[in-house]
Amino acid sequence: ADRRRFLALAGALLLALPACASVAAVTLPRLDGRLRVSPRLHPGLDGPGGFLKVRPEGWELPVYVLRDGADGFVALSPLCTHLGCVVEVEGSVLVCPCHGSTYERSGRVVRGPAERALRSFPTALEDDGTLLIDVRGGER
Ligand code: FES
Repeated sequence: ADRRRFLALAGALLLALPACASVAAVTLPRLDGRLRVSPRLHPGLDGPGGFLKVRPEGWELPVYVLRDGADGFVALSPLCTHLGCVVEVEGSVLVCPCHGSTYERSGRVVRGPAERALRSFPTALEDDGTLLIDVRGGER
């Protein structure tokens, strides 16, 4: 009976895994108010359609880092500009679970009720490929 219970538990854990994987954020220190992300070290980000959640140390909310085109990146606040729910990345768009506002990966609104783009954090690519995300503007 114990073995059966173990198998049932293992199965439940396996089922729960994809959901956990999608919410996990990498916590990073802020150096001079900036996060440093090496896309090569984060396979989720390395390639078209790439996406990674990073959480600045001490922050409650993550920053969504999305691959934009071949070499570009955008870093967005996950807070919907309608009433502040946390949006989720769904393929090529970001969707708010509360009232359905939908944003492009650039942060631009494609469907309301939100009217304003998601807040973005300035990014810069260093020569060695490190992505800098300027989070000096604060969490909200
Ligand atoms: Fe996101 Fe209303 S809070 S659509």
